Amino acid sequence: MLVIKTQHDLVEKLNDFRKKGHSIGLVPTMGALHEGHLSLIRCSLSRDSVTVVSVFVNPTQFNDPEDLKKYPRDPDADQKILEKILRPGDLVFMPDEREVYPEPDKRVFNFGILDKVMEGKFRPGHFNGVAQVVSRLFDMVKPGHAYFGLKDFQQLTIIKAMVHMLDLPIQIISCPVIREPDGLAMSSRNIRLDEKKRKEAPLIYRTLSEAVRLKNNYTVEDLKQWVVDHIEKHSSLRVEYFEIVHTDTLQTVLSWEEPGDKQGCIAVWAGKVRLIDNISFT
Ligand code: PAJ
Repeated sequence: MLVIKTQHDLVEKLNDFRKKGHSIGLVPTMGALHEGHLSLIRCSLSRDSVTVVSVFVNPTQFNDPEDLKKYPRDPDADQKILEKILRPGDLVFMPDEREVYPEPDKRVFNFGILDKVMEGKFRPGHFNGVAQVVSRLFDMVKPGHAYFGLKDFQQLTIIKAMVHMLDLPIQIISCPVIREPDGLAMSSRNIRLDEKKRKEAPLIYRTLSEAVRLKNNYTVEDLKQWVVDHIEKHSSLRVEYFEIVHTDTLQTVLSWEEPGDKQGCIAVWAGKVRLIDNISFT
């Protein structure tokens, strides 16, 4: 694998690959890599003859400066992990901030309600920042495929909307949530959990799974309340929101009779660490 720091070197290398007829897959990450990230990379390795993994903690998507400061960063460990999995011709793009944003990005995207609900409501500006960085990466890499995890369900919906809006010739591939053996969704933030919170955190996915089983016994509204009460009664975790939405529009589901795929999405505070997860109700 080759580690690349500048847009100039990246574009040059990729133009060369494109001339040779290679298919290019992009896996955008913010580093602190774990099996969730690696599953996306493996998916790209199986489809594309060149995989580009970007590692960049994007400041424009952090609405909370404290969260940005505390976000885990370990580029050396990331490189070691990537060396083991990537092929000789694959690229790791590790730019600094000036490389991605030579000048401040003032673009404001209009995603309608997609970025106003759930994460968008509690993290204003977050998805605009995600769209800024991902569109810049798309522009630099011009991949045929780009890989995103269902772990960040709303992000995936918004990236698909952005590709549609900008009419980009990029296929977005969604990859399943990778979990710890106890069910906790893998996340770079999990290492910030203290022992007690780490023990409590698997309750999130256990409760979501139980809610799917209980679905027919409750109205949508009552099931949402049951999830919040169950988590808060059995742990010191605090639920910021739990919503059941239509998968494609992110509109709130009012009744189980409504047609179409449905997803339950949750954000939980484990002390000062914010965890998100989701499950299919289809
Ligand atoms: P990051 O949190 O590093 O995640 C990078 C990618 O890995 C995202 O597509 C995310 O959904 C996926 N991922 C994370 N944990 C996962 C898990 N347990 N199972 C499956 N996939 C998982 O998401 C971001 O970074 C940023 O917002 C980014 C898209 C890179 C833009 O800055």
